[in-house]
Amino acid sequence: MKPYYDVLIIGSGVAGLNTANNLKDDLNVLVLSKDYAWECNTFYAQGGVAVAVNKDDVALHVKDTLEAGAGLCTKEAVEVLCKEGIYSVEKLIEQGFWFDRDKNGELAYTKEAAHSRNRVLHAGGDATGRELHYFLMKSLKFPILYNTQVIDLLIEDGVCYGVCVRHDKKIFNIYAKSVVIASGGVGSLYEYHTNSRTISADMHGVCLKHGIELRDMEMMQFHPTVFVKCSWARKQLLSEALRGEGAKVVDSHGRRFLLDYDSRAELSPRNIVSEAIFSYQQSTNEEIFLDLSCFSKSYFKKRFPSIYFNMKNLGYDLPMQKIPISPAFHYAMGGIKTDLDGKIQSVRDLYAVGEVASSGVHGANRLASNSLLEGLVFSIRVAKSIEKDLNLDKKKIKFPLFEKKLVKKGDKKLKNELRKLMWKNAGIIRTQKGLIRARQRVNDMLSMDRGELIKLRLLCSKEIIESGLKRKSSLGAHYIKGEN
Ligand code: FAD
Ligand code: SIN
Repeated sequence: MKPYYDVLIIGSGVAGLNTANNLKDDLNVLVLSKDYAWECNTFYAQGGVAVAVNKDDVALHVKDTLEAGAGLCTKEAVEVLCKEGIYSVEKLIEQGFWFDRDKNGELAYTKEAAHSRNRVLHAGGDATGRELHYFLMKSLKFPILYNTQVIDLLIEDGVCYGVCVRHDKKIFNIYAKSVVIASGGVGSLYEYHTNSRTISADMHGVCLKHGIELRDMEMMQFHPTVFVKCSWARKQLLSEALRGEGAKVVDSHGRRFLLDYDSRAELSPRNIVSEAIFSYQQSTNEEIFLDLSCFSKSYFKKRFPSIYFNMKNLGYDLPMQKIPISPAFHYAMGGIKTDLDGKIQSVRDLYAVGEVASSGVHGANRLASNSLLEGLVFSIRVAKSIEKDLNLDKKKIKFPLFEKKLVKKGDKKLKNELRKLMWKNAGIIRTQKGLIRARQRVNDMLSMDRGELIKLRLLCSKEIIESGLKRKSSLGAHYIKGEN
């Protein structure tokens, strides 16, 4: 380890790795990763990367993204995403990344909900994330420090000087001219979620401690088709591409009840499908299933190999057997507020990119498969901006070490209680009363004798709840029922 870096990148998903890969080789860069590098949401991504199929499709991709975002997107950010998306994907292909092709050797675009046309590229069938992650890791020219959890930012007078980490049971500071937060979303705050175990809102909490603004934190996306009947924390996602290619959502009598809610049925925007499944389940007590009978076995095994084998290990023979499903937490639209170059306005030399950031592209609801694209596009912008603004004469300040206890007895119990509390009260369907109850309990937990790591989760949960309380009527993924 060096005493001083040009750039520190927190996170080894698409956003962090692609930022690193777009920085000049002669910079002194270190990537920090909480666990193994692949233990991130990028690695588990299935469906693909949404991208305009050509320049003429950009306007329609913008329109679909804005419509899904329900009026809350920043139009300029969406234009950047869709326009520069073409370039970032072309660049990836030129560098040697292999997206799946059709019989004629042309790129195979699939369809996902709320896209007006087929524009989702995929790799390894349904292993887009794994393939992309492997490719970005192979191209990485800078070192990664594994098993390293950032627990604080070193900020003085509106300037960031580095981070404080926990590594190998030791706590120490690492200094740098620029710091990029690419630490992903908030999955572990919820009882049922599709996310990697490393995704637990640490950096959201750290930012809140430093008074850094988060935006749209009530906007949490729940994926409609998840197999939740397994014991481990990360529940098994059943990609939206399955519905895009014909899978149906049915009740135990085989009825496609989604048609009662929206004529687009399985291809309605994600929030509508999730809310419909959740309400139907609650009002009828029916078990809901994903029916894959539109696929032949040979096609299914080839097109969706990961889902086929994962579900086989769980005792399901696909595509013949229907899979019981439930919505589960999937993606955070809100995050650390940035400009279009990933800069955090209130703190110099500090950037955020990827799912942890809110650059305004997703608004109230993310269009399917737009987030890998966001990671690719905005990381290139962040890298350019860092190189332009790198403060070569930055003064060096030494910060004291973090001294508070990170974990205390009883934290695990609180963590599990918090997950249930968030799922019940800040989940798919919210009420004012439920949110107020949850805020009260989170405040109680914050005032208890507890460790500093759980505090980060609590601060982020509180922000989600407070944002939910501020938004009095439903919009996009924030569905608030009655009693306002
Ligand atoms: P991540 O890939 O989640 O990486 C975050 C990194 O930060 C990890 O390395 C983590 O260890 C590290 N980290 C976290 N906290 C700390 C800390 N305190 N200190 C140090 N390191 C830290 N999107 C699509 O566009 N298409 C898809 O098909 C798709 N499928 C998905 C399927 C699943 C199952 C899931 C969960 C998500 C899917 N998404 C998909 C969403 C997409 O994968 C993510 O939004 C995207 O990969 C986020 O990338 P990221 O680099 O911002 O974060
Ligand atoms: C999926 O494959 O359904 C996930 C796509 C996404 O989250 O964008």
